Amino acid sequence: MDFKLEIASLIAEKAGISKEECASFIEVPPKKEMGDLAFPCFKLARVMRKAPPVIAQELKDTLVLPAFIKQAQVEGGYLNFFLDTKKRAESVLKSAYEKGENYGASEIGKDKTVCIDYSSINIAKRCHIGHLTTTVLGNSLAKIHRFLGYNVVSINHLGDWGTQFGKMLCAFKHWGNKKDVEEKGVNALIELYVRFEKDADEDMQTEARAWFKKIEDDDAEAIELFNWFKDITLKDVQRIYDLLGIKFDSYAGESFYKDKCPAVVEELKEKNLLELSEGAYVVKLDQYQMPPCILLKSDGATIYATRDLAAIFYRKKTYDFDKCLYVVAYQQNLHFQQVFKVVEQMGYDWADSLVHVPFGMVSYEGQTLSTRKGHVVYLDEVLDRAIIKALDIINEKNPDLENKETVAKQVGIGAVVFYDLFSNRIKDVDFWWDRALNFEGETGPYVQYAHTRCCSVLKKAPEINFVKADFNALNDEASMDLVSRIEMFPQVVLDAAEKYEPSIITRFAANLAQSYNRFYFENRILGEEEPVMQARLVLTKCTRDCLKTALGLLGIEAPEKM
Ligand code: ARG
Repeated sequence: MDFKLEIASLIAEKAGISKEECASFIEVPPKKEMGDLAFPCFKLARVMRKAPPVIAQELKDTLVLPAFIKQAQVEGGYLNFFLDTKKRAESVLKSAYEKGENYGASEIGKDKTVCIDYSSINIAKRCHIGHLTTTVLGNSLAKIHRFLGYNVVSINHLGDWGTQFGKMLCAFKHWGNKKDVEEKGVNALIELYVRFEKDADEDMQTEARAWFKKIEDDDAEAIELFNWFKDITLKDVQRIYDLLGIKFDSYAGESFYKDKCPAVVEELKEKNLLELSEGAYVVKLDQYQMPPCILLKSDGATIYATRDLAAIFYRKKTYDFDKCLYVVAYQQNLHFQQVFKVVEQMGYDWADSLVHVPFGMVSYEGQTLSTRKGHVVYLDEVLDRAIIKALDIINEKNPDLENKETVAKQVGIGAVVFYDLFSNRIKDVDFWWDRALNFEGETGPYVQYAHTRCCSVLKKAPEINFVKADFNALNDEASMDLVSRIEMFPQVVLDAAEKYEPSIITRFAANLAQSYNRFYFENRILGEEEPVMQARLVLTKCTRDCLKTALGLLGIEAPEKM
């Protein structure tokens, strides 16, 4: 039962507004003494031409309260409702119990497609901890949207275009060797590039430009080498994606749009949007207080923005998306504002379905990362270290655990991901080991541990039987708090999707885990009389499912033992 909606339909009749509108007014009061739900009468004051407290009193006097409402009370302009604990618990848990791990799922996204551009790594570079957020945030958004019934297309828009690839090819031809690159992977490519920047003379610079031209012109040898560099990079990063459990539907990167740029440029010209300015072709955006969006260099070469434009039209045509999300750091705010504005200027009314989802920077134990200053922390190293640390902790706390390696992986990765997704995405994240891997407080391992606690209770218990449960047994503070958290879960998922903010789920999971722990310490479960035990088992089972689903939506696994 949706209590808000039930109450709304009672009031809607009297107030003469729709049930839905009425439901949208209903709030959860800030204090327990004020009841479980409150209807503010302020918005009705104008239509009904009465003071809010008067309306509240009138509603109270005329409403016939259904059984699930224990009491209604006027407080200022609010009508507060106190729900019947038993009925409320029974109704919330029935829904959660029946739906199991699908509780919170919905069909609001049915027949709608969302493209999510995330991770979007650069070829011949190694992923550092700065790539963590786009990767795990994008993955979580993909999972949340799928859970809500959307068709999701996950896209890794590879950074695989630019003059640096000419340099790399040139460096490889002079100094490289195949075996070395095959063995050392991306590191060998980086070495070649660094050496080029240091040692290349004028002749080599000219050669490098020629190599890039060859890539542009689809020269067989150049393309073969270039594709090989790409494979090497993708093979390296695949290890990270495997650890994080991430898959992409498309790896169409910047080079994919090479032959799709001219048509876009043509269209811009036809629509009189392209102007020559200081030696480059640009779309002016003065009227929106933005600098011009540069699209072609003086030699006619495309740039990052041109390829993003081409990608937008390709994605629209190919996937017919209802929304296209770009999970990219806030440093690129202006870039996306400009590109989206250009689409709007071209006359496409769906330009507002392009959404940049920005996020803050990651630093490491108080230090900002800088490739140039040599302070880099590679992502695979962070993940590997997390797994080793998790294994150390398991060896110390639970040395006899089966499948220790697997669990260490789940816990270590879970810690890193949870930590990264804990704060609002726009906030900068400072990564600290001791905070991420803490088994106490608001961390991944803490939530995973609460999940294992639920699993272990359920394992030791006799079979659960919903019908035998007496929900009157859940009338203590801790149980009621747990029930109300479970009740919130579907709304939490919707909020996270609407705001592109998985941290709403992360914090929910931490609170739910904490609430369960309190319930667990204050209440005996096994050994109680059947009706009481069953009520507590049902609550435990619903908590377990919710924790598992919430973690799953964040891209974190939930081991049964740890
Ligand atoms: N490769 C880019 C970078 O590392 C991110 C690409 C984001 N996606 C896009 N469609 N521009 O900065």
